[in-house]
Order: sequence, then C-alpha cells, then structure tokens
Amino acid sequence: MEFVVAKDYADMSRQAADLIAACIKENPNCKLGLATGSTPEGLYDELVVDFETGELDFSGVTSFNLDEYRGLDHDHEQSYHYFMRKHLFDAVNIDPANTHVPDGSNPDAATACRAYEEAIRAAGGIDIQLLGIGHNGHIGFNEPAADFPKYTNCVDLTESTINANSRLFDSVEEVPLQAYTMGIGTIMKARKILVVANGSGKAAIVRDAFFGPVTPFVPASILQFHPDVTVIVDEQAAALS
Ligand code: GLP
Repeated sequence: MEFVVAKDYADMSRQAADLIAACIKENPNCKLGLATGSTPEGLYDELVVDFETGELDFSGVTSFNLDEYRGLDHDHEQSYHYFMRKHLFDAVNIDPANTHVPDGSNPDAATACRAYEEAIRAAGGIDIQLLGIGHNGHIGFNEPAADFPKYTNCVDLTESTINANSRLFDSVEEVPLQAYTMGIGTIMKARKILVVANGSGKAAIVRDAFFGPVTPFVPASILQFHPDVTVIVDEQAAALS
C-alpha cells in the first residue's frame, strides 16, 4: 500500500487525477471504476480540465460506478447516475453507452446486481478503481457487517450512512434505505485501487482502515490485502495515522 499525504484538498485531487489520467494515457481503452460522494468532486474537475486542454481523450474509456441508491430513477438529482453526468460524463467525450452505473430503478435487486457483475466481467474487469470512504469504513455501499460481500449486492444502509448522506437530500426521510453496490470481492478484483479521503472528519477511519486490523466491521480495511493500492489523503485526514 502506498500512503500519500497531500497538502490539501486541491493537491489530493490533482494527485489522484494524475493517477487516473496516467491509466487512460497508458491504455486509451481502459476500464475505470468510479465513485461518487463529495471527496472525488475535485478530481473529476481536474479530469475535465485535462480533457478541455486536450491532455485526455475519453472516447475509448469504459466506466463502471460502484453503487447506486435502490429506487431512484436515473434523472433523480440525488441519484449517482445524475451525479456522474453532472461531474464527469457530460463534460468529457466518453461514450454514454460505455458508462455503467447499477440500475437503481430496477426493483428486481437480484437481476440488477447479477447483470452488473456480469457486465464488469464481460468487459474484462476494472483497471483502476477509485474509492472514497464512509465514516464507518464503508466502500461503495458495503457497510460494516459480519463478512465481506463477494459480489454486487443489495444492501440495507446503516443509520449512520443515511444520516451522513441526508445532507444532500431535502430531509432524512427521503434518503433511500437500500442501495445496489459492487461487492468487496468485485472491488478487490480491480487491478489497481485508488482511495481518496480528506478532512478531519475522516482522520479516525483512515487510521482504522489502513493501519488497524483487517475486519469486515471496517470494510475498507480489506484493501490492506490488495497488491496495488494507493491511498491519497490530505493532511487533516492523515492527522491520526
Ligand atoms: C457514499 C458513497 C461512497 C462514498 C461515501 C463517502 O455513501 N456510496 O462511495 O465514498 O459516501 O462520501 P463523501 O466523499 O461525501 O464523504
């Protein structure tokens, strides 16, 4: 594991964008695993700048997002479909047909999750998977639990995640109670993993996930066993590590 302490959010975002940009330059047909949340917004802005300045070409890139709320349609402003269009897809030349986000609008969870896992497999797997981290150590929407989910699955969101994410909804009652997410096994199969975290609110979980024991009660801790992980955090998020 490479643990990089960036000066601040802007520096974290630029360094993370550089890693993703390097993958695209090395393989213009690469498969990107993407994440939502506030943390990666800055790095998406950087990738858009790289596209606008002619540094990056997304025309051959395929993407798979980690997760999506169950029950939100693709145009819902809090859906991850919407987030990705707003922060990246509509601003670069990626072919929309090559972008994938779990289909939260499909009420048939088993079918939606199986189809997603199969689509990743059929594409040949993910070259670089971007991850944020939840305050409870979740990655994607894999919440602390007694074991590590292997495949894309439907999860019940914990109260702490619902409360944390309610800041983006009009009220906590509007936050969906479930989500479809790549499993921990799906994530661990990515050839390279990039984790970003910033702010003092993430300092304790960064310490626990990357320097504590590996346990499904801190889902991100499993990343310590991945052979190619880069964690980029700002100084505040690194403060307890
Ligand atoms: C959500 C997403 C995660 C994300 C986490 C942290 O729950 N499902 O993928 O990492 O929030 O979000 P933020 O970056 O806003 O702290």
